[in-house]
Amino acid sequence: MDNKTVFSGIQPTGELHVGNYFGAVKNWVRLQDLHRCFFCVVDMHSMTMPYDVAVFQKNTEEMFVSLLACGLDPKRCTVFIQSMVPQHAELNWILSCVASYGDLTRQIQFKEKSEQLAATVDDPTSGGFISAGLFNYPVLQAADILLYHGAYVPVGRDQEQHLELSRVIARRFNKQFGRDYFPEPKVLSTELPKLLSLADPGKKMSKSLGEKHVVPLFGEERVIRARVRSAITDSGETPEGELSPGVHNLLGLLRACDLGDTAATFENQFRSGDRKYAPLKDAVADALVALSSGVRARRAEIAADRDAIHKLMHETADQARTVAAQTITDVRRLVGLPQR
Ligand code: TRP
Repeated sequence: MDNKTVFSGIQPTGELHVGNYFGAVKNWVRLQDLHRCFFCVVDMHSMTMPYDVAVFQKNTEEMFVSLLACGLDPKRCTVFIQSMVPQHAELNWILSCVASYGDLTRQIQFKEKSEQLAATVDDPTSGGFISAGLFNYPVLQAADILLYHGAYVPVGRDQEQHLELSRVIARRFNKQFGRDYFPEPKVLSTELPKLLSLADPGKKMSKSLGEKHVVPLFGEERVIRARVRSAITDSGETPEGELSPGVHNLLGLLRACDLGDTAATFENQFRSGDRKYAPLKDAVADALVALSSGVRARRAEIAADRDAIHKLMHETADQARTVAAQTITDVRRLVGLPQR
């Protein structure tokens, strides 16, 4: 255990899928024994895009429970809900006066999402609306990390630009208000399995592509088997000795489930031209069903006591708030706001 703080966040977007699990959450579970860790359900970030209130509310609590079911342990890390710690919003404002408008206009995620929204002009509900919150999204993310003096941030490559901006913000704050007050947060990159969509193995496994592209981590056996069975494997154009992206992805899933030997056996068979698709899919489905039944049982156990969940949500938010409040006291003094 070192004294560097790890911070990461996940949006409460419906159910976790195996891509989220192997690409992020499983690594968080490992990190909780190596560093002081804060893991945050970033519900305020989810408000930057159009959403349904009832679904959103349910998803936030579900994500909290799911993270616990995956093995984040409140005794070993602080797992909490962002909006329950109001200092995130407060630091967000202060940092939005340190962040550069120009830098924000150059964020790729903002460009992509705002274009996506602009394309919905004909949609009667969203109507092409782009919120200022979406533009400010990376500042809130910087606030999340810096509130806890986060030094390491385990995130995927798609978040590198946001992290770079967090460093720029920390640096500018330090220069303007107080030398070395904030550490410049770095991406903590770990070799993690990069899982691809089952239905389109040219793309990353992501819920935004649609249901059939992902394997839900808490899915029922029937659903998991059906998804794996319908995975795209080969269009018949893979040269001798090579693996198609779909097969490569299925082997990756086996390895992610710690079945490296099985994966190696299948790989040799496929490379030697003996392409047994059904047995490979069965092996993958079996492994994912086993993983899922473990976390499902754990989740059911936790979810059975809603009062305990709410109590825990408050306790972990209190813990985070204690740390965040100290940062805000310092920051208010540094930037010249009155003490209260
Ligand atoms: N933007 C991140 C994502 O989409 C989520 C996030 C919000 C986050 N705040 C964070 C990640 C702070 C790391 C640290 O994945």
